[in-house]
Amino acid sequence: MTKSADAFEKSLNTHATLVEARLDILLDATPRPAEVVRPRRLIEAMHYGALNGGKRLRPYLVMQAARLFGGSEEAALQVGCALECLHSYSLVHDDLPAMDDDDLRRGKPTVHKQYDEATAILAGDGLLTYAFDIIASPDTPLPDAAKVALVLELSRAAGIGGMAGGQMLDLVAETDQPDEAGIVMLQAMKTGALLRFACEAGAIIAGRATEDRDRLRRFGEIIGRAFQLADDLLDITSDAATLGKATGKDAAKGKATLVGLKGTDWARAELDRLVAEANALLEPYGEQAEPLKEAAHFIAYRKK
Ligand code: IPE
Ligand code: IPE
Ligand code: MG
Ligand code: MG
Ligand code: MG
Repeated sequence: MTKSADAFEKSLNTHATLVEARLDILLDATPRPAEVVRPRRLIEAMHYGALNGGKRLRPYLVMQAARLFGGSEEAALQVGCALECLHSYSLVHDDLPAMDDDDLRRGKPTVHKQYDEATAILAGDGLLTYAFDIIASPDTPLPDAAKVALVLELSRAAGIGGMAGGQMLDLVAETDQPDEAGIVMLQAMKTGALLRFACEAGAIIAGRATEDRDRLRRFGEIIGRAFQLADDLLDITSDAATLGKATGKDAAKGKATLVGLKGTDWARAELDRLVAEANALLEPYGEQAEPLKEAAHFIAYRKK
């Protein structure tokens, strides 16, 4: 590992520790005002689904993007945790038997294996809803207008025309193979949208004007493409012990991926191209953008 890659992973781990400590508090058993009780089985399954390892890359991007513009560290941590709850929900439901039918996630049994399917569905529902709770909460130190903007962007990123829509297209594509443009679109939705939100959220938290928001949004879109391309590559080239999830699943399930369509050499060259494009977008910010550039590099060339 190069020195800077090593430093990046240390920084990612430091941020992950902060995120996990906060998630542990957010997902405790104490009911918040207007909640009746937090049923023990539900909150335990949510805690298990969110606090079971994971790179915490999306919160890292929120925090670094907010830092780039001098946004509140505390608000960025809260919004990062909200996004991590939503992302964890997407994984809990993605693993269900009716979807990808996976038994292993983040090196442990999936939520429906550890508990049961109904509990996994409800834990996902709980994590999804809680994301919006965290953003709107009085504990998140942001002006109301910024909270509304974040709620709107996250709804659009996670919903019909974003992650959930992309997951629908991903399932349809198992039987009705899309062309290259179709795969790019479904991946931009199922994976790209949440990464795009992570980056744009940093600019919203810092109250930046449209130009910076757009630039961060485009950066998020590019690294989102790289993220799923790397995920699809790892599904072929890595192993379950390293990744903490089963490999070889995409070909077995007939998933439509760019790696499947165009091969691993093409995918590696495309990753190089995407990293260069992502870096170019951050040029106006100079040295200050180094952590985000390193994140783009990590996303493309990661081993897990
Ligand atoms: C996996 O996301 C799901 C995809 C969008 C491909 P991550 O690779 O970020 O999973 P964790 O959070 O680190 O487990
Ligand atoms: C998942 O894509 C995208 C989500 C919205 C969860 P995959 O199905 O490829 O993710 P993994 O490989 O199971 O993590
Ligand atoms: Mg899937
Ligand atoms: Mg899956
Ligand atoms: Mg995958």
